[in-house]
Amino acid sequence: MQAAAERVTQLAEHCIAKRGRFDWALAGGKTPEALYRLLAGPPLAGRIDWTRVHFFWSDERCVPADHPDSNYRMARQSLLDHVAPPRGNVHRLRGELPPPLAASRYEQELAALAAPPGLPRLDLILLGMGEDGHTASLFPGSAALMESKRWVVATSIAGREVARLTFTLPLLNAAAHVLFLVAGADKARALAQVSTPADPDRLPAHRVQPVNGELSWLVDADAAVLL
Ligand code: 6PG
Repeated sequence: MQAAAERVTQLAEHCIAKRGRFDWALAGGKTPEALYRLLAGPPLAGRIDWTRVHFFWSDERCVPADHPDSNYRMARQSLLDHVAPPRGNVHRLRGELPPPLAASRYEQELAALAAPPGLPRLDLILLGMGEDGHTASLFPGSAALMESKRWVVATSIAGREVARLTFTLPLLNAAAHVLFLVAGADKARALAQVSTPADPDRLPAHRVQPVNGELSWLVDADAAVLL
């Protein structure tokens, strides 16, 4: 996790030095929490000018901001509360709103990062991967995975009662840098398939291929055991 924290810090330093800001879409789930906590404290916290960092989320559960399942809540507790960015720099996906409204409002918020007719280009999109190869909230076989025009959509996942909001592949693949952070033996099978999947639509993480950007994977030994 230290390597991931160093990588994010380097990217932030570079972008802030180059253009005065760092537009970063955070990942949800459990894995990135340790990364956020490393960034929230010395020595790394002191290397980043947090007033220049704009926080986004690549997906969110459709729950209030203080709900235990909220990706925003996890990031707030592990990072934002410690580095205190300007309120205007925290661009939360509003899980408490009707999902289609939350998705279209977020697209309007992201439009500020786009140079028309292009797509919004985030400096970094941090992603995790599920055991089934999903990433963000793009799950195998979902309509959200097949979306080719919208930047943010609402999606519901079979067997899960909470709907979600997610970046789509066009938006993910417009990023300047995508960094996957994958840990744990339960991800080993999906990780082994991600580079040569039998059916790419059954492995959403494979479909993340930045059009004009960099793609990095940081994985721990347990997740890499089958590589
Ligand atoms: C979410 C995430 C999701 C996550 C993977 C891995 O909202 O849950 O965006 O894509 O990154 O499910 O989750 P873990 O890190 O908890 O294994």
